[in-house]
Amino acid sequence: AHGEATAVPEREQWSGQIGFILSALGSAVGLGNIWRFPGVAYESGGGAFLIPYLVALVTAGIPILFLDYAIGHRFRGSAPLALRRLGGRLGEGLGWFQVLISVFIAIYYTAVLAWSSSYFVFSWDLRWGDDTTAFFTGEYLRAAGEPFTLDYVPAVAIPLVIMWVITLGILAAGVVKGVQRANVIIIPLLVVAFVAIVIYALTLPGAAQGVNEFFTPDFAALADPNVWIAAYSQIFFSLSVAFGIMITFASYRKRRSNMTGAGLVVAFGNSSFEILAGIGVFATLGFFAFQQGVEIGDLEGLTGVGLAFMTVPAIVSEMPGGAWVGALFFGSLTLAGLTSLISILEVIIAALRDKFALTRAQAVLGFGGILAVVSLVLFGSTSGLTALDTIDNWANNIGIVGSAVAMAVIVLWVRRRGRELARHLSAVSTFRVGRTWLLFTSILAPAVLAYMLVTKIIDLLV
Ligand code: PHE
Repeated sequence: AHGEATAVPEREQWSGQIGFILSALGSAVGLGNIWRFPGVAYESGGGAFLIPYLVALVTAGIPILFLDYAIGHRFRGSAPLALRRLGGRLGEGLGWFQVLISVFIAIYYTAVLAWSSSYFVFSWDLRWGDDTTAFFTGEYLRAAGEPFTLDYVPAVAIPLVIMWVITLGILAAGVVKGVQRANVIIIPLLVVAFVAIVIYALTLPGAAQGVNEFFTPDFAALADPNVWIAAYSQIFFSLSVAFGIMITFASYRKRRSNMTGAGLVVAFGNSSFEILAGIGVFATLGFFAFQQGVEIGDLEGLTGVGLAFMTVPAIVSEMPGGAWVGALFFGSLTLAGLTSLISILEVIIAALRDKFALTRAQAVLGFGGILAVVSLVLFGSTSGLTALDTIDNWANNIGIVGSAVAMAVIVLWVRRRGRELARHLSAVSTFRVGRTWLLFTSILAPAVLAYMLVTKIIDLLV
């Protein structure tokens, strides 16, 4: 094989189905499940949102997840290598584009993890005080805004460095001893911690009202194309498809593996976690609205940074046993984010190793080190929050969706490898795919995604 990295030793392999499933779940379950889904669902039709959400899962999320698996498993390589083996230069270019998106996302994900781990510590004495918004944007991020003041170091630099050391340490230990082992420990822990908070939240006064409001369907919303776009975006981000992650992870599976069976477990496991988070977040918001004597609709900060670092701390301060709830919440957010971050960095590391015949340690320390410095500089200034928003918007909307369309078009229309991949997927899997899968991945999903892409680009430009 000309030009291929022959010096790289045999590809590492997961020790089995469970190791792979937990690692793929670790990637899928992240900030998107906890802070993105509940608010998006609430604003896009509540209970009725579950319809476009499930349609998006079945018609695009799972089919493209399978496509990722098929490419990684059949062509056994990181995103650029596997896509080159499949589709030549064009494919390799797409692979590097996916690596680039991963670089951007990794940088902002680390910042959020650092903040989240600081807030884990702040929970113990409810350090954010009464005005949580002023605390976050003023005291906490202002400390970050002056990199060379003493405050910056404990508030932001130390947690950032700790996050990078943990993440790079896990990655350096390898696929089995690092990534798989971390996920096998963290995912069960995360599920237990998270279920505990949700159960506790449900016992609070006002909780039932909150959950009710979350599920109350507004069927009129289904006529709004933006609601459908929101559902497809949520599914893509949440399942971590079309980033190169699932191509990379699938390349570490043993030759004879039940790919589709694992995929269904991951997809439905991820959505279950997401819906559970919706229940937990809205039970908590219901409690808060009840306490304040207002409506949930009047509350601000129902998603993202606002939800996690302003609304949740405010609620936690009002709760009996709030310090514990805060610690469990920020602990869960940190762990969920950590396993996602590991997966996205593995995309980059695997790609560099395949291309330049590096050892794992060289790739992790070299490139990881550069990224760590970039994130320290970027999030050492108040522009960090703006940078985060911009990256989030472009990478998630344009980047992933564009990459998914390009992948489907290159694989299925330009190179016409669809049938071969369908056969590959069905060979040793419990759930066989055939014409329906080809129809979804080659026509339906690309059509919907292309429409989304155009709408988003117009939206961002005007
Ligand atoms: N799937 C993750 C989530 O729901 C997000 C993610 C995106 C993780 C990209 C890794 C890479 O939060």
